[in-house]
Amino acid sequence: MTTSSSRKPGIFAIRDVRSLITETTEEGQGLKKSVSALQLTAMGVGAIIGTGIFVVIGEGAGVAGPAVILSFVLAAVACAFSALSYAELASSIPVSGSAYTYTYATLGEIVAWIIGWDLILEYGVSVAAIAVGWGGNLNAFLDAAFGVSLPDAIAKSPEDGGIFNLPAVFVVLAITLLLVRGVTESARVNLVMVAVKLSVLVFFIAVALFNFGTGNFHNFAPSGVDGVTSAAAIIFFAYIGFDAVSTGSEEARNPAKDLPLAIIGSLIICTIFYVLTAVGAIGIASPEQLESSDAPLAAALDEGAGISWAAGILSLGAVVAITSVVLVIMYGQTRIFFAMCRDGLLPQRFAKVNQRYGTPARLTIGLGILIAILAALVPLSEIVKLVNIGTLFAFILVNIGVIILRRTRPEMPRPYRVPWSPFLPIVGVLFAVYLMSDLPLSTWIRFVVWLAIGLAIYFLYGYRNSKLRKDHAAGITSPPPSFPSQSSPPPSSSPGAGGTTGGDPS
Ligand code: ALA
Repeated sequence: MTTSSSRKPGIFAIRDVRSLITETTEEGQGLKKSVSALQLTAMGVGAIIGTGIFVVIGEGAGVAGPAVILSFVLAAVACAFSALSYAELASSIPVSGSAYTYTYATLGEIVAWIIGWDLILEYGVSVAAIAVGWGGNLNAFLDAAFGVSLPDAIAKSPEDGGIFNLPAVFVVLAITLLLVRGVTESARVNLVMVAVKLSVLVFFIAVALFNFGTGNFHNFAPSGVDGVTSAAAIIFFAYIGFDAVSTGSEEARNPAKDLPLAIIGSLIICTIFYVLTAVGAIGIASPEQLESSDAPLAAALDEGAGISWAAGILSLGAVVAITSVVLVIMYGQTRIFFAMCRDGLLPQRFAKVNQRYGTPARLTIGLGILIAILAALVPLSEIVKLVNIGTLFAFILVNIGVIILRRTRPEMPRPYRVPWSPFLPIVGVLFAVYLMSDLPLSTWIRFVVWLAIGLAIYFLYGYRNSKLRKDHAAGITSPPPSFPSQSSPPPSSSPGAGGTTGGDPS
C-alpha cells in the first residue's frame, strides 16, 4: 500500500503506521509517557462505572424485567470481542486517537474522519449528558443529606423546565482545568475516585445481600429474549469506556503489555461488579421500582430495602463515580481531537502541546467550553441511545481494522494478538450489528444526519487541509515500510519526518 506515486492521494489514502508512531516523538508533538498499567486500568474502570449502573439500569430493568441481569452479561460479551481488537490495535499502534488513528492506518482517510466524527458522539456528546446526570445526582444527594436542592432554573436544561444546568457546567469546567494541569495529576485523582466508587458498589451489594429476597425474580423474563436483547442495547452504555484506555496509549509507559491488560482487565472487573449489582438490585427492589426512579440503586435501598440513610450514601457515591467518568471520557475526547488536528483534518494549530504542562492545553480548554455549553442546555433523554449507536459503529470499524491490518501489514510487530483472527473480530462485528439493530429508527436517523454533517465538513475542510495530502504535494515521501522492533522504543525522528502514504488501499 505504500506508494511513491505522484498521484494525488484519494479519499481512501492511508497513513503509514510507522510514521504515526514516529511522529509522536517529534518535538512539541509528543505527549509525556507517564501512565502506568494500574493507572490505565483505573482509567478504564473510571470511564466505565458511572451513569450506566447508577441510572440506566432502571431503564434496562423496565425493558427486560429481572432478566436485565442477563442483559448485563450479553452486553459484556458483546464488548469482550471488540475489547480484544482494541487491545491488539492499541498495543501495535500506541498513538493518540484510538479507533480514529487505527482506521487511518487501515481503511483510509475518509473512513478515519467518519470514525473520528462518530467518536464525538461517544466522547464529547456523552460527556455533556453524563455531566447532566452528575448534576441530578448532586441535587439528590443535597436533598437526602441536607434537605436542600438547587432550584430547577439553574439545575435543568430548558427542555426539562430550567434555564441552564449550572452543576453540569461546573463539573465540566473543573475537569477541564484538571486535564490542562497534566495527565499524571489527573490519573492520580482518578485512582482515588475509582476506589471510592468501587467501595460504594461493594456497599450496595453487601446491603442488598443482607436484605435479599427471591420474590422479584419470579416472571424472570417477561419480554423474553427480545426484552433481554433490547435492554442489552441500552445497558451497553454502562460498558462504554474500556476503549477510552486506548486513547491514552501514547502516554502509556509500556503500551505493549499494559494496554491489553488494562483494556481487558477493566472490562472484566466492571462486568463482575455489574452482574452482582444487578442481582442485588433485583433482590431488594422490583423492576418497576427501579424503572420509575432517576437514581434506581438509591431507590432500591430506600423503597426496596427500607434503609433510607443508605440512599444518601448511594447518591454521593454516584456523584463521585460520575465525576471520574467525566474525567476519563473527556480525556479521551481531547486526545482524539488532538490526533485529528495533528493530521490536519481539523485546524492544526490546536495540536500544540503546552510546554509547561505537557498536555494539549488550548485544545482541552476549547473543548471544555463547547462541552460545558452543551451540558448547560442539553437534556439527557435519547442521548444514551445516540451515544450507543455511535460507539457500536466504532467497534465495527475497529474489528474490521484488525482483519485488514493483519493482511496489509503482516510484518508489523503486534505485542498483543487477538486469538483466532479473523474469527473473533468477525464475531465482534456481528455482536455490534446485533445490538445496533435493536436501537430505534429515530436513533438511526439522528446518527445518519450526524454522519452526513461530518462528511460535509470533511469535504469542505479536512480533505483540503489534510497533512497527508499536503505532505504529498510538498514531495515528502513515505518512510521505508519497516517497523521498530518490539523491544526497542520508536525511533526518534528528524524534523519533518512524518511520512505519508499516497495511494489508496487496494
Ligand atoms: N459507561 C459510562 C457510564 O456508565 C459511560 O457512565
